[in-house]
Amino acid sequence: MSDALLDMASAFRLPSERVWLNASHQGPLPQGAADAVQEMVRWKQQPHHMSTPEPFIEIPGRLRTVLADLLDAGIDEIALANSSSYGLHLVANGLGLKAGDEVIVAANDFPSDVLPWLRLKDHGVVVKQLDPQGEVLTVDEIAAEITPATRAVCLTWVHSFSGHVVDLDAMGELCRLSGALFVVNGAQGVGGIPIRPASRSIDVLVGVGFKYLCGPYGTGLLWLGPRAMDQVSSDKLYWLSALTADDLAQEELDLDQIEAPATAARHDVFGTANFFNFAALAASAGLVLDTGVDRIYAHNLALTEMLVEGIDPTRFELQHRGPVERQSSILFARPLKSSLEEVGARLVAAGIDVARRRGMVRLAPHFYNTAEDIDRALAVINRV
Ligand SMILES: Cc1ncc(COP(=O)(O)O)c(C=O)c1O
Repeated sequence: MSDALLDMASAFRLPSERVWLNASHQGPLPQGAADAVQEMVRWKQQPHHMSTPEPFIEIPGRLRTVLADLLDAGIDEIALANSSSYGLHLVANGLGLKAGDEVIVAANDFPSDVLPWLRLKDHGVVVKQLDPQGEVLTVDEIAAEITPATRAVCLTWVHSFSGHVVDLDAMGELCRLSGALFVVNGAQGVGGIPIRPASRSIDVLVGVGFKYLCGPYGTGLLWLGPRAMDQVSSDKLYWLSALTADDLAQEELDLDQIEAPATAARHDVFGTANFFNFAALAASAGLVLDTGVDRIYAHNLALTEMLVEGIDPTRFELQHRGPVERQSSILFARPLKSSLEEVGARLVAAGIDVARRRGMVRLAPHFYNTAEDIDRALAVINRV
């Protein structure tokens, strides 16, 4: 068991009487990130700490570096965001799609992957909402629908409603050959499963800070590969991305000369020095990075295996987790003896926090959970 390697529980302040098995909804904030917020609160209470330009540069800079390291990417490829929807809208709106252009999405995907494109139907863009035969689309299902008019394929990497993982390499390759951008929503994967987007034929990767990175709500990231950097235009010229405090201190400033940065920072969400959120995310994502996503993934899979082995099959029907070479640590279980409402209420009352999605219980352990947590959870799960 990997717990000897990974004793993270002490880095968090989770209540000892509960077991949080719901990282797919929210990752808890580690103590180091809470301390970072405290420091930011002090800055704001005593704003002389913010009167130097450093905080405005240092905080977004620190966050961008940690996120780049997590993805093994360059800092110039990372834009700071407040959600995954932020990047998905930015790309959907920034590709200049015209009448007759096509986009492929999965009909059963999380709404954030579908809605930004559906808006474009009013402009004549054809949005193909494909129904997968299984839980997620296969490369063959996309190959059957992709055409020279397809400008983008947008999918969730780890499917929120089944935990299944799409075949990024095969789909990325197909998109590349067809000339479509491959846009991937990593909200349920980044921080929990290793990913190097540049090495996987991905053009765009979006993610959130508040699930497997354990940061605050209202944080996210956007990674752009070279094709997306060329194709996604920006309609923003944000002063904080384009100017320095020294520029502002000058007697005269020629605004006509100001240009957006040539890097992904030109797509940053406004408010990049957003002290409370971004300082905290830099700390929590830093903890994930220092722990190692490879180790976290192995640890989480081992905990999920314990659940698979331990859950009483007469009480729950476990859902298939997809091909073994591509599995997430998210497990879905359908209650057989009582209603989902009853089971959910009893679990919560007994201190086991899970999500209810599509008629099932969703169990999502992460690196702060231990084997002991899983034993405690199983003892409750097998009697509700
Ligand atoms: C796949 C996926 N995308 C996005 C989100 C969150 O949406 P957003 O960050 O766009 O607000 C979730 C879950 O909350 C999700 O599971």
